[in-house]
Amino acid sequence: MLEKTIKQVLVTEDEISEKSREIGRILTEEYNDKNPLMVAILKGSVPFFAELTKRIDTHIEMDFMVVSSYHGGTSSSGEVKMVKDLDTSVEGRDIIIVEDIIDTGRTLLYLKQLLLHRKANSVKIVTLVDKPEGRVVEIEADYVGFSLPNEFLVGFGLDYDEHFRNLPYICILKEEIYQDKD
Ligand code: PRP
Repeated sequence: MLEKTIKQVLVTEDEISEKSREIGRILTEEYNDKNPLMVAILKGSVPFFAELTKRIDTHIEMDFMVVSSYHGGTSSSGEVKMVKDLDTSVEGRDIIIVEDIIDTGRTLLYLKQLLLHRKANSVKIVTLVDKPEGRVVEIEADYVGFSLPNEFLVGFGLDYDEHFRNLPYICILKEEIYQDKD
């Protein structure tokens, strides 16, 4: 049913699964015996967080934050707002932030600075998608699943007006879907 709204699949389900295994293997080695706190930034990171964490074969803990920078539609407002904070203290902890996408970089710059200010021992960033052309502040992820062109992407957590997060792949929608909504 959702398939008829899709123009092009950019990253398949198998590619996401393989990449998650690859990053999972790296994190397993890097964080062995460190018990890192893995932080999912809701809502978009949920599918990737689930896919990635099951590929990490050492002790981790999980926590969740909600920050918001897009308010519906297809462009960023520029304002980052904390909606739900962590339950866990980050002081002295090794933190791995897990995101679905870095675009302008504002969200991750804000989060990284916040966690370092709270005296985290280290803060690394894993993102499923990087859109380097969208960057307006200086921040890079430590691990990137897929570097993609500056198009409006949906699927595997990425939404258009809260829809399409449940698609099992990353894709571009047909133009008429955006026209109907705007
Ligand atoms: C998206 C995404 C990142 C942020 C990236 O979140 O999950 O957190 O935007 O954009 P930036 O690099 O331009 O800051 P959004 O605020 O849309 O919330 P969501 O995860 O609930 O979709």
